[in-house]
Amino acid sequence: MKIMLNQRPQGGLHGTLQVPGDKSLSHRGLILGAISTGTTTLRRFLPAADCLATLTALQALGVPIKRQGTTVTVTGVGLRGLRPASAALDLKNAGTATRLLTGLLAGQAFDSRLIGDASLSRRPMARVQAPLAKFGARVQTTSGHLPLTIHGRQLHAAQVRMTVASAQVKSALILAALQAPTASTIVEKQPTRDHTERLLRQFGGRITTAPDQRTIVVDPGAQLHGCDVTIPGDPSSAAFWLAAATIVPKSRLRLTNVGLNPTRLGFLRILKRMGGRVTVTPHTSATTTAEPVGDLLVSSAELTPVQLTAADIPAVIDELPLVALLAATANGVSTIRGAAELRFKETDRIATIVTELRKLGVAVTPLADGLIIDGRQTWQRPTTAFDSHGDHRIGMMMAVAALRLPAPVALVGAQAWEISYPAFLTDLQTVCRERVNAW
Ligand code: S3P
Repeated sequence: MKIMLNQRPQGGLHGTLQVPGDKSLSHRGLILGAISTGTTTLRRFLPAADCLATLTALQALGVPIKRQGTTVTVTGVGLRGLRPASAALDLKNAGTATRLLTGLLAGQAFDSRLIGDASLSRRPMARVQAPLAKFGARVQTTSGHLPLTIHGRQLHAAQVRMTVASAQVKSALILAALQAPTASTIVEKQPTRDHTERLLRQFGGRITTAPDQRTIVVDPGAQLHGCDVTIPGDPSSAAFWLAAATIVPKSRLRLTNVGLNPTRLGFLRILKRMGGRVTVTPHTSATTTAEPVGDLLVSSAELTPVQLTAADIPAVIDELPLVALLAATANGVSTIRGAAELRFKETDRIATIVTELRKLGVAVTPLADGLIIDGRQTWQRPTTAFDSHGDHRIGMMMAVAALRLPAPVALVGAQAWEISYPAFLTDLQTVCRERVNAW
């Protein structure tokens, strides 16, 4: 799908948005609801293609799930109540679904087969297969990729030291550990998003994280009970508006009910380091989520360059395209290092960021593990259409870039944002239309 993107609104971007529910939490809410006993109600579930792939896969495994808009009811079948699917589970574009379900299905009493689209079929699966083998799991990849055949069997406890910083892999290991007879220990390479740990505790699971934030002990004894979960707004979706309001002069946006889990706030911290103007107001009232939530108020700002190293990366992994975009407006040279993981996302994001930013005349150099971006030139008017390359976050990043241009530009592959933010275009039109002082 090719669309014309909004050009720069003269009066800036204005208004209030409630960004959609968190993608990571929507996947996890479905999975933990499925393996609990009793009913789980997920409110503000993200009805995007990735999460619907998880929902459909769990239904195929015999879990009754009903969805009405953004409210989902899961009738839990317990950890031993899943049934073999009658066909291969097609996880489409969803890496999170694939990795987490691999950990879960490895400990079941039946075999499963996982397939996906062309992009997912290029993504590495040995990263989940190798550590799962420590639990006795038998996962067969196709040269390290999908299709996967999972030979379900009784798992044993394990001590695993992870070699990649990945919340998906960690979560797969936690789901495997829940099916072992005794406690397991997982040591992360670097701390990553801890949604599985928090949500598992909310469902009654016994999981502890040591003060080093890297050592996790899973005690599989506890029965998991269904519960009500109101899913916070996705900070990765909010980041598009934080970036847009920052780089489009005269903007002011309010973003409500955004998840404020510190393991997801790398972008907010980096934006502030670069001179961004954001006020965070945490909510103090009790909620049905184990996650902190709050409102964000963002206004336009002139940015300074930033230097990122490996320690910065896990908390901003999905927002690095936007960091590159901010850097392309900053008054100097920015460097992103320690981010080789970008090469294993829905596209090789180092390559796709370079291709797209060069259309604006930005001097950007790819590195094996990152990017060098010189933001000092004025952006050129692109002579070719922007392209999502089939990657939702690249498509939305370029829609944000277009908001700084004096003339409209086309975007090829806009439908990619169905993966994580189906209402993106509606929200884009809202913030372009709102008048100053609208709220
Ligand atoms: C996710 C973890 C991250 C992130 C992805 C969602 C999750 O992937 O990029 O969008 O929900 O656990 P990795 O674990 O591969 O870093």
